[in-house]
Amino acid sequence: MLHIVNHPLITMKLNMMRDQKTSSKDFRTLLDEISSLMTYEVFKDLKLHATGEKLNTPTGCEIDKLRLDYNIVIVPILRAGIGMSNGVVNMLPTARIGHIGLYRDEKTLKPVEYFCKLPKVENPLLLVCDPMLATGGSATDAITMIKAKGYKNIRLMCLVGAPEGVKKVEEAHPDVDIYLASLDEKLNEKGYILPGLGDAGDRIFGTL
Ligand code: PRP
Ligand code: URA
Repeated sequence: MLHIVNHPLITMKLNMMRDQKTSSKDFRTLLDEISSLMTYEVFKDLKLHATGEKLNTPTGCEIDKLRLDYNIVIVPILRAGIGMSNGVVNMLPTARIGHIGLYRDEKTLKPVEYFCKLPKVENPLLLVCDPMLATGGSATDAITMIKAKGYKNIRLMCLVGAPEGVKKVEEAHPDVDIYLASLDEKLNEKGYILPGLGDAGDRIFGTL
């Protein structure tokens, strides 16, 4: 299912990221901040349970120590997804981090895989992160790679998506919830999202 995370703070920061004059430093900061803000929405349905341990408050009360139902695993798609992992980790300091290496061949627009390393944890909930969901090929393949390693409980968080990309992921992985800060209009002839952000990896890492 598609979820648009609609909040004026996110929309304002995303609007600043769209500006071609925004520097790599500011682009990274804004991406980091939006990723933190989106994390609230992505995990708002998670349940907490008592660990069985107690903790004492400074006011002399004893209460249950709580923990999340799942062990969160953040999975940035290299390279651009790395720009989101710090923002998520700031909200979830105990989260583990896996990595998937994919790049989109500039001619065919098809994803090419080069890396996959995922932590083994009990009861995992994986959050795949990538700022851009364009044709959807990279996210679809990344999720297929993750499922092939036996993981089932997966969510996808992107900043900007195109309708084509959303459709592709939904068709290939109907069990995966997709979270976007914006559903943009369309792709151009080179597979870039319009109005979009341009090449997110290049803007994050200054490789323009
Ligand atoms: C970008 C982006 C996504 C992918 C989206 O990565 O970060 O991973 O393209 O396009 P798609 O939905 O059409 O597959 P890119 O391939 O440019 O690699 P990079 O992150 O290393 O720059
Ligand atoms: N990858 C990007 O970085 N930007 C787009 O608009 C599409 C794919």
